[in-house]
Amino acid sequence: MYYPEELVEEVRERNDIVDVIGGYVRLKRSGANYIGLCPFHNEKSPSFSVSGTKQMYYCFGCGAGGNVFTFLMEYENYSFVEALKALADRAGIQLPEREYSDEARRQADRKSRLLEVNKEAGRYYYYQLKSDRGAAAWQYLAGRGLTDKTIAHFGLGYAGKSGNELYQYLKGKGYPDELLMQSGLIATDEKRGAFDKFWNRVMFPIMDVNNRVIGFGGRVMGDGMPKYLNSPETMIFDKSRNLYGLNFAKQKSRDYILLCEGYMDVIALHQAGFTNAVASLGTAFTGLQASLLSRYVKEVYLTYDSDEAGIRAALRAIPILREAGLTAKVINMKPYKDPDEFIKALGAEEFGKRIQEATGSFYFEIDVLKEQFNMEDPEEKTRFFNEVAKKLLVFTEELERNNYIEAVAKRYQVGFDQLRRLVNRYGAMQSVGGLLDREARKENRKKDKAAEGILTSQKLLLTWLAEDNGLFERIRGILGPKDFTEGFFREMAEMVFGQYESGGRVQPAGLISRFENKEEQVQAAEMFSARLDEELSDAGKEKALLETVYRIKKNSLDIERRRAAEAGDGQALQKIIIEQANLQKLHISLKNG
Ligand code: GTP
Ligand code: MN
Repeated sequence: MYYPEELVEEVRERNDIVDVIGGYVRLKRSGANYIGLCPFHNEKSPSFSVSGTKQMYYCFGCGAGGNVFTFLMEYENYSFVEALKALADRAGIQLPEREYSDEARRQADRKSRLLEVNKEAGRYYYYQLKSDRGAAAWQYLAGRGLTDKTIAHFGLGYAGKSGNELYQYLKGKGYPDELLMQSGLIATDEKRGAFDKFWNRVMFPIMDVNNRVIGFGGRVMGDGMPKYLNSPETMIFDKSRNLYGLNFAKQKSRDYILLCEGYMDVIALHQAGFTNAVASLGTAFTGLQASLLSRYVKEVYLTYDSDEAGIRAALRAIPILREAGLTAKVINMKPYKDPDEFIKALGAEEFGKRIQEATGSFYFEIDVLKEQFNMEDPEEKTRFFNEVAKKLLVFTEELERNNYIEAVAKRYQVGFDQLRRLVNRYGAMQSVGGLLDREARKENRKKDKAAEGILTSQKLLLTWLAEDNGLFERIRGILGPKDFTEGFFREMAEMVFGQYESGGRVQPAGLISRFENKEEQVQAAEMFSARLDEELSDAGKEKALLETVYRIKKNSLDIERRRAAEAGDGQALQKIIIEQANLQKLHISLKNG
């Protein structure tokens, strides 16, 4: 980290975590903490907890957690430095200008430099489109029905014919070759040297939710191959966790999102007033994209192509959406291929009607399934209903399942009782299979459990120490950082004890920002977020503390003893045995301490 730790701490302390998160999540006081619905996964009852005293948040449902920096990194997809800047701004703190001299700084800055390159390139393409040289491209876009306003809104552009003009332009701006190669916009080979990846194409800048250009799609004007070319994945361009158009569509007040396949579909829909349309980036829809959407809406309407490939893509997307807790519906655009063509032919109002008539994803799946069976043939018809019965098992709540059975029975004209019997039969088979699986898993789990128990104890103690600094004096001489046996737990314990020794106080949120990497921050936050039973009486707490200290120390001594025995170190072994004997008297020293 190249900002001094004191400055990072100042920024953190001047941004109360309850205020900051309160701006994104509706929080309610609950005992010493605040709770709310977790913004990082879909849930109906709150397991997301924010602590004003610890200046941390933690979700007991999905394990998301950290300090105020982590929150912005996670929620806004910021780097550490971007989160720091945003919070410094918020608190009115001036950050010092950074110098670009030393290599470590340059490395940390790479991401924002790549963003700069993409932004410059987007500008360049846009001006090319507006210049005389872009006349044909402008014609192409206008010919596809896009207005000047739409073209400007989406920042569409044109990559010219010369083969290396973007390279020359960016080079002229002083960007080094290495950075330009990393951006994926420039490539190099022996014959040509450096050249532009996009050549004679209309350009679609791809933006993240914060309106930053992270990559491009480029389309040939006409029938060339490949039709679309996309930026390769880079440090800033992850196709699996961004969506085209989401920067415009992401408003909080939406009821649902329209998910389509192509950039042109998104643009046509926005132009027609459906500003809640997004598309994936030339790759299949992913779980990360689904959970991104679940931050903004509960419902997604699929408007994939109406051809067979589109139907297959919809069938793949539906379970992914479901998994993220989203309800999905499917819009029928027949006889047109995609929303762009539909709107051009029938207009926005008709599309609005199709939205109203969209099919629930479950019925869509069954409708597609039905196509594979000849319903005139009694045998095939039976097989169809068997398949349907199996599918109905995804509804695990009885009431919901029965509602679906009833609706399906009506829709596909079969008796309710008949269908329900089928469903129950498959349900019973499934639970027998589940039982066998469970037996095998139980053995493995038993082994893991002991190890897990120790780690839970270590986590519990770290959480307690962070919440009640008085405990340090009580365990002095009994237990130290070296008794924390697992790598990361040890590292955190060393930081915690070190912080206490040097200042008499532990601030877990301050320790978290010593890690710049989000994953590490989340792990660190977890160390201070053991679930404490706040209902315990004083005596109960005392007992729990004693047991925890005992378990950690015993485990650490057991390990040491094994090591000493293996090494044949008799002296060490003797010492450990005495310590183990003393451990039995632990409660006395703790109570008197
Ligand atoms: P138009 O033909 O311009 O209307 O495009 P479209 O958006 O309708 O495209 P289509 O439905 O054919 O494809 C949907 C999306 O898949 C596009 O927006 C691209 O992201 C991606 N795609 C299509 N063709 C290609 C290709 O040849 N290569 C790559 N990498 N991606 C493609
Ligand atoms: Mn199209």
